[in-house]
Amino acid sequence: MSLRHESHAFSLAGKTILVTGASSGLGRQTAISCSRMGAQLVISGRSEERLQETFAALEGAGHDAIRADLTIAHERDALVARMPPLHGVVHAAGVQRLSPIKMLSETLLREVFDINFVAPVMLTQRLLYHAILVPASSIVFITSISARAGTAGVGPYAASKAALHGMMRCLALEQAKRRVRVNCVVPSAVETPLWDDRLLAQAARHPLGVGTADDVANATIYLLADASRWITGTELVMDGGAVAVS
Ligand SMILES: NC(=O)c1ccc[n+]([C@@H]2O[C@H](COP(=O)([O-])OP(=O)(O)OC[C@H]3O[C@@H](n4cnc5c(N)ncnc54)[C@H](OP(=O)(O)O)[C@@H]3O)[C@@H](O)[C@H]2O)c1
Repeated sequence: MSLRHESHAFSLAGKTILVTGASSGLGRQTAISCSRMGAQLVISGRSEERLQETFAALEGAGHDAIRADLTIAHERDALVARMPPLHGVVHAAGVQRLSPIKMLSETLLREVFDINFVAPVMLTQRLLYHAILVPASSIVFITSISARAGTAGVGPYAASKAALHGMMRCLALEQAKRRVRVNCVVPSAVETPLWDDRLLAQAARHPLGVGTADDVANATIYLLADASRWITGTELVMDGGAVAVS
């Protein structure tokens, strides 16, 4: 069902939003849900085929889909060159790689940081430098509860997301004069292609069960919409009560 209330604080009507990682999982659902709230979308991902599947599921007209590997600087620049003025960006592209630190390779560590940290930070830098993000726009990073609670084997991934938290607070202060807001959505386990059968084991430690991509999309819509106009520099934890248990 589509909710279109042009003057509603939670509406995204009149806003253009860039969503990375839109070819799968949380990015895909966020893009689709934003279109249902009236936004025009620019969606990005690496797989052209799966990006087009998302594109076909968007409601409304005037959307764009741009393939890009965000770890490659010239592909980020090409994406930015095609960007209309934006009222929001959702950084959902990311990977999870598991390795206990004792077995860690520098290659894996750099791979995780390149896509989870360097890519969203440098994409944001380009969008701000070229004034593509308009005043009072909203920047949302999809991070992870692993940035706040330790799990064996998740060190590189957890560190890449914690690095985003630290950067986000500084950026929020830098951009406050333009009323550009910067926040993180911090999910625990959500059923997406990121997971394999390890997800089943997660359910037991979440009093409300594991999350859905819709849950994350709805929280992200709130942070993109005018309803959250006073909120910046925050981490919105979504964990079905998991942290309350520990
Ligand atoms: N699922 C969870 O439980 C969970 C929990 C907390 C946080 N998160 C975070 O949420 C975000 C999305 O995760 P997900 O569960 O939706 O995973 P997913 O289904 O595997 O989707 C990951 C997305 O990232 C894109 N991506 C990966 N490497 C890229 C690159 N080099 N350049 C451009 N795009 C790239 C993928 O594009 P292609 O598929 O086209 O390559 C895909 O669209 C991630 O940052 C993840 O850390 C997920």
